[in-house]
Amino acid sequence: MKIIVVGSGGREHAIIKKLKKSSEIEKIYALPGNGGIAADAECVNVGAKDISGIVEFAKANDIGFAVVAPDDPLVLGCVDALEEAGVPCFGPSAAAAQIEGSKVFSKNLMKKYGIPTAAYEVFESIETAMEYVKTAAYPLVIKADGLALGKGVLICEKYEDAVSALGEIMEDKIFGASGNRVVIEEFLEGPEVSVLSFTDGKTVVPMISSMDHKRAGDNDTGLNTGGMGTVAPNPCYTDAVAKECMEKIFLPTMNAMNAEGRTFKGCLYFGLMITKDGPKVIEYNCRFGDPETQVVLPLLETDLFEIMKAVRYETLGELDVKFSNKHACCVIMASNGYPSKYETGFELTLPASPKHNAEIFVAGAKLKDGTLVTGGGRVLGVTAISDTLEDAVKKSYEASADVKFENAYMRHDIGRRALTYVK
Ligand code: AMP
Ligand code: GLY
Repeated sequence: MKIIVVGSGGREHAIIKKLKKSSEIEKIYALPGNGGIAADAECVNVGAKDISGIVEFAKANDIGFAVVAPDDPLVLGCVDALEEAGVPCFGPSAAAAQIEGSKVFSKNLMKKYGIPTAAYEVFESIETAMEYVKTAAYPLVIKADGLALGKGVLICEKYEDAVSALGEIMEDKIFGASGNRVVIEEFLEGPEVSVLSFTDGKTVVPMISSMDHKRAGDNDTGLNTGGMGTVAPNPCYTDAVAKECMEKIFLPTMNAMNAEGRTFKGCLYFGLMITKDGPKVIEYNCRFGDPETQVVLPLLETDLFEIMKAVRYETLGELDVKFSNKHACCVIMASNGYPSKYETGFELTLPASPKHNAEIFVAGAKLKDGTLVTGGGRVLGVTAISDTLEDAVKKSYEASADVKFENAYMRHDIGRRALTYVK
């Protein structure tokens, strides 16, 4: 079968590398992919948000299945359009993708169905929001309603911070129309856990848990980024926490989406905080996380394509989805200056066979006259697997030392905090 994978990041590279192992797949097209993905799939110059271009390509090329990975095309209805054209997809409909596309929608869903999350209020006008923050308890968290490249969340320590955050989001519109409404919520504390899950609307199968490192600098300092590294499993996610999450969060969310007539099929990502009052939802994503996918999928033992088809055809309950009991660490190598200003276009040298059997997932690179050059903020991720978290961390750093490009930047403490939770 010929399939397409929509998207162009390290997450898509990890999905493609895993799908390549499926005997049923004869060819993978990446729309648009990137210079590194080109080693594993045929990259086609159709943008991830070009829904009609994606459908046209699928129809013209006898595509038997599509995986839509990023949030934008999902929220824009890429799956709906492909399915209408007769192409079976892995990924939620636009109606279901609202769980990520609108924070107001997801917060109201959680309130209505009693799913634990931070207490909140919704504001449609800056005046009422400004009034509210005068007497609210601090710290508090202000979130733009819509998609904002993972940057639409501002933590405010004091009243003055809230005033400037509201001005930026609702008046200056730094996140565009995503800031027409805001959610203002209670600040929660505790370790964060990412749990990606497969769901077909009948069954929810959590994948191995992971921990992201969102800030740019060591010791969680500096600006928020798309993610500077990940480890899996997350040692804070004990069996007891997992059981509580299944009962109070995962199943209730799946059932809530069904009750709303927005059955979610695809990868539903639970961003959780383990508070002293139990696990609470910080955010939902309607897709695989990046760079969580780069540690979760390498530990998956079941054929990914079998799972994706089972999700599409609603037979997930019949599958036994297995993960290895090893540990994975992914270190992101970025362009110096990311997530602010950075230069690209530097030659990128990847080892032919990375140390420790590490895998390299390319996120931002282009082919220029046949040479691979850097082309984004996050350039690539290096994932190593081992029997212990400590050794996986060590091996991913050792393997990343063989990746060379000018102006490379990485955090040096990926996994350090997780290790403090290992007994
Ligand atoms: P989000 O884009 O919703 O994942 O938020 C980005 C980050 O902001 C999260 O990973 C948390 O670290 C932090 N955050 C979001 N909401 C809260 C909250 N209610 N309390 C504390 N931290 C939060
Ligand atoms: N790593 C967080 C995300 O994918 O949203």
